[in-house]
Amino acid sequence: QIRSVVRGTGSALPERVMRNQDFEGIVETSDEWIRQRTGIVARHIAGEHETTVSLAEEAARRAIAASGLEPADIDLIVLATATPNNTFPASAVQLQHRLGIAHGFAFDLQAVCSGFVYALTTADLYLKSGMARRALVIGAETFSRILDWEDRSTCVLFGDGAGALVLEATEGAATGEDGGIIVSRLRSNGSHQSKLYVDGGPSTTGTIGKLRMEGREVFKHAVGMITDVIEDSFAAAAVTADDIDWFVPHQANRRIIDASAKKLGIAPEKVVVTVDRHGNTSAASIPLALDVAVRDGRIKRGDLVLLEAMGGGFTWGAVLIRW
Ligand code: ACO
Repeated sequence: QIRSVVRGTGSALPERVMRNQDFEGIVETSDEWIRQRTGIVARHIAGEHETTVSLAEEAARRAIAASGLEPADIDLIVLATATPNNTFPASAVQLQHRLGIAHGFAFDLQAVCSGFVYALTTADLYLKSGMARRALVIGAETFSRILDWEDRSTCVLFGDGAGALVLEATEGAATGEDGGIIVSRLRSNGSHQSKLYVDGGPSTTGTIGKLRMEGREVFKHAVGMITDVIEDSFAAAAVTADDIDWFVPHQANRRIIDASAKKLGIAPEKVVVTVDRHGNTSAASIPLALDVAVRDGRIKRGDLVLLEAMGGGFTWGAVLIRW
């Protein structure tokens, strides 16, 4: 039986850091309001020459290096983004070319903030099917380009960045390892689409559009949906909250993260939090947080790691990995 084992992680952030205080001259807000409601202190904002693809490339090269591989070893790229460089070709194909890869296949996947959980699940299935052997799974976003910088209720929440992870197909008997993706659960329900959306697109307005959100409505549904899909994953894998070594949730809002962990019974010291420094980077938030916790020595081989995300659509899902 084939298992998808994590070989390495990498991440990239734009150079420019925007602190809460920097918004005080742009919209009517305060550092105190943003901190209290969201836990965000700062976020990175892409400069003119930083794009979803350039950030993805930086993160990808670091993940490939951390895996002890070369770009030529990769035969599948799944790139989760809601902010691609172009409507087409896919940012994944542009990245593939930048990495000098001309074999295998690459495509974008769009599930907004749940994009990384969807991409990881998709790559896992390709590896298990035997269609690919080494996958680069990426979440990369430049949400600053779709924000309404006059809307204080949304512009303070998001940041830009990219995170990447290399998955390798491993035959259990061949290596004796027992790590890998254990279980994934994905959900979506389009009846919630008006609560969080972008008001433009190629087939409607012909413009890129701006992000629109009913924050309170999103908040109301988030914790229930997140904990429900995680409990489903626990049941499928026959594990409990006590078995989890690290909980790496989508980093949208500190209050959602804390409430979800509490409801599940996961101890606060097992929760990886980066929303304070990164803001909400949509599909990039989980792989960015993973890379932080791997590089600072928290996540180690053999740990049981729980990922979770929820976002526009709504889409949501969870993945359990033995690291
Ligand atoms: N600064 C100061 N005041 C503000 C700001 C701001 N940046 N933004 C909104 N306000 C005001 C509002 O205008 C409102 O004023 P009013 O009472 O005079 O009308 C007041 O603050 C309260 O607004 P609410 O929207 O009700 O505030 P709430 O406590 O719900 O917090 C927030 C807003 C932080 C957006 C919260 O609803 C939230 O976190 N929602 C989850 C949304 C989320 O995280 N989405 C991310 C994308 S989805 C995902 O990734 C899961």
